[in-house]
Amino acid sequence: MRHASITGWGKYLPDKIMTNEDLEEIVDTSDEWIRSRTGIKQRYIADENETTSDLAFEAAKEALNNANLDAKDLDMIIVATVTPDMPFPATSCILEDRLGADHAATLDIEAGCSGFVYGVSVANQFIATGMYDNILVVGSETLSKIMDWEDRNTCVLFGDGAGAAVLQPVDKGGFLSFDLGSDGSGGESLYMPGGGSLNPASEETVKDRLHYIKMEGNQVFKFAVKRMGQASLDVLEKANYKAEDVDLFIPHQANTRIISAAAKRLNLDDDEVYVNLPEYGNTSSASVPIAMAEAKDNGLIKNGDKIVLVAFGAGLTWASAFIEWNEEAL
Ligand code: ACO
Repeated sequence: MRHASITGWGKYLPDKIMTNEDLEEIVDTSDEWIRSRTGIKQRYIADENETTSDLAFEAAKEALNNANLDAKDLDMIIVATVTPDMPFPATSCILEDRLGADHAATLDIEAGCSGFVYGVSVANQFIATGMYDNILVVGSETLSKIMDWEDRNTCVLFGDGAGAAVLQPVDKGGFLSFDLGSDGSGGESLYMPGGGSLNPASEETVKDRLHYIKMEGNQVFKFAVKRMGQASLDVLEKANYKAEDVDLFIPHQANTRIISAAAKRLNLDDDEVYVNLPEYGNTSSASVPIAMAEAKDNGLIKNGDKIVLVAFGAGLTWASAFIEWNEEAL
C-alpha cells in the first residue's frame, strides 16, 4: 500500500463579515451570550449571488497552486458539503467544470461537519491502492442560505467559507490512520427537513420553515463532547501513537467548550490546539480544512509534525485522521 499525504492546502472566505453586534439587530441575542456560550465573535457571510461552488473554486485554486499541480492532472475531486449549489448535479461536477479538470472523477460527500475528514479518508484509499495519484478534497459551505434568521438558537452559530487539500503519494509519513463512524439515531438532533423525498418543496414546506437548519443544541453538544475526544484517542491507538506524540490538534470549530473538553481528554496544552472559531463561526465541512490551511500559512505545521484532524456533525457522524505531515509529493 502506498502512503498519501496533503501536499497542497487552501482556504477562501467571502468578503462580508457579520459580527455578534450585527446579530443583536436581527434576533434577541447579545454579544456576551454568544461569546460565553460558544466562543464566536464574528462570521463571514456569502453574497446573495455567491454559491458553494464559487467558494470551493477559490479554495481549490489556492490548494492546487500550493501543490504546484495543474487542474488537468487531477484524477478525482471530492466535495464535502451540506449546502450544495442544488440537489443535483453534484457540486464536485460544477467545480470540475470551473477548474477545467477534465480527467477527474467526481464525488460529493454529505456527512455534515465531518464531511471533509470523511472525504480525505476516501481519497487516501484511492491513492493507497494505486488507482489514483492526484486528488482534490474540498469542504465548502454557504450555511447562511439555510439558516433561519428568526431562530436565535441556530443563526448565531454558523458561517460561510471553504477549505481545500490536494492529496498525493509520498515516500514516508502521510496519513497513518482514520476513525469514522455514525449514529443515525441522532439524525433529528440536527437536520433540514424540507426539500427531499420526505417533504418535497411546496408552499406548505416554505410556510412551515422546513428549508432551514433545525437543531437540538444540547443533544448535539453531549454527542460532540463524547465523540471528539474518543475519536481522537481511537485514531492515535490505531496508529500505535499516544496523545503526547501530537504536535497539533485541529478540531472541528463549533464551540470552544466542546474543543476544550476534547483537548482535555488528550491532556493537550493550549498551544497544541488550533482554534479560529471566534473569527469564522461554525463553517461545517469547511471548518477543518480552513483551520488546517490557516495553521500551515501561520507557520505552525512543518514536515514530520504529527497532527490529528477530528470532526463531528449532522448524521450524527464523527471522523478523525492522524497524519505525519509530509508535503513533498513523490
Ligand atoms: N442568544 C441569547 N439566548 C439564547 C440564544 C441566543 N443566540 N440561543 C439560545 N438562547 C437561550 C435559550 O433559549 C435558553 O433559554 P431558556 O433557558 O430561557 O430556555 C438559554 O439560552 C440556554 O440555552 P441552552 O441550550 O441551555 O444553552 P447551552 O449552554 O446548551 O448552549 C449551544 C447552546 C451553544 C447551542 C450549545 O448547546 C452547542 O454549542 N451545541 C452544539 C451545537 C453544534 O455544534 N451544532 C453544530 C453541529 S455540526 C454540523 O453538522 C453543522
